[in-house]
Amino acid sequence: MTDKFEIRDSVPDDIALIEAVYPGAFPDEDLLPLVRSLLSEKSIVLSLVGIADIALVGHIIFTTCGIVGRTDKVSLLGPLAVAPDWQQQGVGSALVRSGLRRLKNAGIGQIYVLGDPAYYGRFGFEPNDSVTPPYSLPKEWHGAWQSLTLRDDMPPLQGTLTVPPVWRQRALWAP
Ligand SMILES: CC(C)(COP(=O)(O)OP(=O)(O)OC[C@H]1O[C@@H](n2cnc3c(N)ncnc32)[C@H](O)[C@@H]1OP(=O)(O)O)[C@@H](O)C(=O)NCCC(=O)NCCS
Repeated sequence: MTDKFEIRDSVPDDIALIEAVYPGAFPDEDLLPLVRSLLSEKSIVLSLVGIADIALVGHIIFTTCGIVGRTDKVSLLGPLAVAPDWQQQGVGSALVRSGLRRLKNAGIGQIYVLGDPAYYGRFGFEPNDSVTPPYSLPKEWHGAWQSLTLRDDMPPLQGTLTVPPVWRQRALWAP
């Protein structure tokens, strides 16, 4: 890992720079409408940026969610993007780990992500069949729905993840 970058909370002045990271990281997908909507939901979102020198090179969002019928607060990781020139240098991992630490300190018990297990497995994420995403996933994506428990006293959770309106779009949960 390089020590040339720092992780901090995003601030409103970062928005244009955050938006500049996504098209390079996701050339085939337009995540900007989702990112903009999430950034406007400050009370339910943890938004962190990776800064190298003075450049903004990575961004991650965690959204506070719930489970149908339960009071536990959980969190959904995504999106996560690192500028192509800065990939494979530890920025993504540092963003994930920093977010997990903060959420643990905030009392969040479990984190969910829809992503590549080959990447998220390194942080301890494992496929989850007990808490289902808000929309059914195609069969080939089932191993991509993963969770990580942050608290030792966390009872096993079962049910359906409840997401805020910004995440209630089937297209965000389909190939
Ligand atoms: C995926 C992404 C966030 C990882 O961030 P990063 O800063 O490049 O990754 P890190 O330096 O923290 O970690 C590098 C490790 O992750 C692995 N890795 C990177 N992207 C991966 C992916 N999409 N799938 C599986 N493994 C991946 C690398 O092979 C490397 O593995 P190693 O440590 O065993 O050598 C970044 O590459 C990116 O923005 N990619 C394009 C957007 C994207 O796919 N985001 C989706 C996340 S679900």
